[in-house]
Amino acid sequence: MKDFTNKEETIIILDFGSQYTQLIARRIREKNVFCEILPFDYDPDYIKSKNLKGIVLSGGPSSVFDKNAPICDKKIFQLKVPVLGICYGLQLIAFLFEGKIEKSQRREYGKSVINVFDTSDLFKGLREKENAWMSHGDYVGKLPYGFVPLASTENIPYAGIKNPEEKIYGLQFHPEVVHTENGEKILENFLFDICGCEGSWTPESFILSSVEKIRKEVRDKKIICALSGGVDSSVCAALVHKASGDQLISIFVDNGLLRKDEASDVTNTCKRLNMKLLLVDAKERFLSELSGVEEPEEKRKIIGRAFIEVFEKEAKKIGDVEFLAQGTLYPDVIESKSFKGPSATIKSHHNVGGLPDVMNLKLIEPLKELFKDEVRKLGKELNLPENILGRHPFPGPGLAVRIIDSVTEKRLDILREADFIFIQELKKSGYYDKIWQAFCVLLPIQSVGVMGDERTYENVVALRAVTSLDGMTADWAKLPYDLIEKISNRIINEVRGINRVVYDISSKPPATIEWE
Ligand code: XMP
Repeated sequence: MKDFTNKEETIIILDFGSQYTQLIARRIREKNVFCEILPFDYDPDYIKSKNLKGIVLSGGPSSVFDKNAPICDKKIFQLKVPVLGICYGLQLIAFLFEGKIEKSQRREYGKSVINVFDTSDLFKGLREKENAWMSHGDYVGKLPYGFVPLASTENIPYAGIKNPEEKIYGLQFHPEVVHTENGEKILENFLFDICGCEGSWTPESFILSSVEKIRKEVRDKKIICALSGGVDSSVCAALVHKASGDQLISIFVDNGLLRKDEASDVTNTCKRLNMKLLLVDAKERFLSELSGVEEPEEKRKIIGRAFIEVFEKEAKKIGDVEFLAQGTLYPDVIESKSFKGPSATIKSHHNVGGLPDVMNLKLIEPLKELFKDEVRKLGKELNLPENILGRHPFPGPGLAVRIIDSVTEKRLDILREADFIFIQELKKSGYYDKIWQAFCVLLPIQSVGVMGDERTYENVVALRAVTSLDGMTADWAKLPYDLIEKISNRIINEVRGINRVVYDISSKPPATIEWE
């Protein structure tokens, strides 16, 4: 069951499956109002016990005429807070209050001009004609009793509706997408004027309430945390440390598959923040277990298993540990429960494969309500250095998946040096922060080259740089030729063992970001 001790003013978004549901949440949070996405059929009795200010019904791919159309409990309209239905949410409101929904012959998709009739509340500050983003099939043909129109378009009579008595609002278009020019204004009107929100949810207020919550939960018990050096685990550790000081022991396992200077960066950050750190040198164990293994899945399994064993052993040495802090983020939580309804088993996401299951520790996941950019803001507030907050994602199995073929110390050294040069040049040129991820891949083929008067027969390194929003899809980064040229020259001249550099121009899909 969820934790309902939330004191912040809260907007609940009921999710009917729209691709924009997370975007609605982002837009609301950008206004410093806390909001949460729940499945469409969440029990209204539980929603009631929050400091609830308003409810948003998201869009969705269904039609109210579908046999298994998602329908929420009508009791949500009796919670005495304003409701805003967006797209399918509007149609559902009209359907539940016995208006008439018309089936459309064709979907209306894209930019549309709306004619605004009523600028008294939801559309306050809008012009008579506004550009809005539409994506719908059905539309409201007849308003339910008690509702009045707010706007129309050339194609539909009700692009916006409201029931002033009950404070129920509906929009056929999407205020959350940037193509709706004044969408932000509409959401502001809903949040601040209609729901009466104050907008007091800031990184500072989040830290204060999290610290209080963590202290209450852990009391004087010990907590451990698997620090990876990435943004999520670092921010998680810094926050838990703020709440519990030396009760937190962060464990950083050096598996020998890290990038250059990674272990020392983590050590320095912990020192700066006065955090207790246990640096475990397990290089030998990982490298000997990986010796001769070529198959990528096999490598992953070996690394995952060794990590759990090393971590468990260290935790046992500390003794009396009761909690494990983990940097699980909100998208992981939503993905694991989305559309399963309140009664379905919610699978918990594990950042560090399998740790909580085997260790029998209580989990603390203080970031599980935040998006990545919010975690970065929080990290800033907690004084974490920029090189950690802006860091590109790095896979748990580390450089092992970036060496095609078996992993050896020599290959790791070559890859580490080449990767360091690539990243250094990207940072110098300002490109590092413009792309999602960049790294080198060491290929197991040798080719002929010439250096000075000498023939060489050395390895190939591939540069991989991609732009992406979430790593699910990605485009290869169009880095300037002169920058790639400089990187290639430096790698070939400075890294012994490489005589050829290639640039990966495949997008995901059909390729993936990592090579393996
Ligand atoms: P792919 O290669 O599947 O990668 O396109 C998508 C994103 O996920 C990262 N990745 C991982 N991250 N543990 C992680 O924490 C892993 O085992 C792992 N494998 C891939 C990858 O770097 C990219 O950002």
